[in-house]
Amino acid sequence: MNNTEIPNNKPLLSVKNLEKHFVTKKNFFGHPKEYAYSLNGISFDINKGETLGLVGESGCGKTTAGRTIMGIYKPTAGEVYLHGERLDLSKGPEKRIQMIFQDPYACLNPRMTVGEIIGEPLEINHVYDDNKAKLQRVYELLELVGLSREQANRFPHEFSGGQRQRIGIARALSVNPDIIICDEPISALDVSIQAQVVNLMRRLQKELGLTYLFIAHDLAMVKYISDRVAVMYMGAIMELADAEELYRNPLHPYTKSLLAAIPVPDPDIRQDISSIKGEIGTGDMTGCPFAPRCNKASDKCFKEMPAIKNVEGHQIACHSI
Ligand SMILES: Nc1ncnc2c1ncn2[C@@H]1O[C@H](COP(=O)(O)OP(=O)(O)OP(=O)(O)O)[C@@H](O)[C@H]1O
Ligand code: SF4
Ligand SMILES: [Mg+2]
Repeated sequence: MNNTEIPNNKPLLSVKNLEKHFVTKKNFFGHPKEYAYSLNGISFDINKGETLGLVGESGCGKTTAGRTIMGIYKPTAGEVYLHGERLDLSKGPEKRIQMIFQDPYACLNPRMTVGEIIGEPLEINHVYDDNKAKLQRVYELLELVGLSREQANRFPHEFSGGQRQRIGIARALSVNPDIIICDEPISALDVSIQAQVVNLMRRLQKELGLTYLFIAHDLAMVKYISDRVAVMYMGAIMELADAEELYRNPLHPYTKSLLAAIPVPDPDIRQDISSIKGEIGTGDMTGCPFAPRCNKASDKCFKEMPAIKNVEGHQIACHSI
């Protein structure tokens, strides 16, 4: 019922060489002097109905990737295509791409009722002229995420963390987006609530044919929810493969150390990526960003950024493979 049909057989979303550099220091004349190289040319496709997991350590650029794809941040370079059609991200956020945020406490306006919060994207995008029809849609969305229509007049502080994330999901769904970017949607929740929210997201995906980009630290949860997984390191994708395959047979040195850092492969236990040995390099280096920490690094690795290639069905950026 929800999503528009794909008019061609192109991937639903295509990200090509997307870059985002933030100016972090300006000189006396107000010209940029220093940058944070948060996204250094990432590329991937997402097909309709699938979940692509995006994992990597804190600060590697996951949120920047999500926000640049949906037009919250203006890209420094690169393109985003939806159904094969290039998006003009200079115009600001794209309605067909919605986001679920990490912190349900911070992202809901405390002065708005839940009904107003869920209905806001409908209002901004002028989806309904008729208030009655809009309210009906809000009720429908509340029930879809396991809340009741009577709760529309309540305020966010009256809800638990899990319920607030359900409100965030209803809000993201309100405008029938083609894809939802989920930025660590469960990491701020109690462990006991995390599975409920993930299971709700999976049910909605099946029922509505939703497509997700699922950003997370938690490798076990990403494996559970994703069809394919992309591993990011310092603004670049190191490896992308089918979820099962990636966890069973990681090929890239960084993916290997990331998976070796998981103590127990149990989805009930929340696992953060623990420390990997070695210093993290700076973002504007010319070679492989993982070189300062990689035990397979050669001279070439410090001089030349490896291009993405296809190995055993994995997309990989590494000189040694
Ligand atoms: N608005 C900004 N201005 C300057 N630098 C930024 C900005 N947003 C992010 N960065 C920098 O870009 C890098 C990537 O940040 P980002 O928030 O995308 O990482 P992340 O992978 O989402 O991390 P986490 O797992 O902690 O959420 C970091 O070094 C961060 O300091
Ligand atoms: S390119 Fe070189 S430094 Fe980078 S992961 Fe591969 S072997 Fe290690
Ligand atoms: Mg983040």
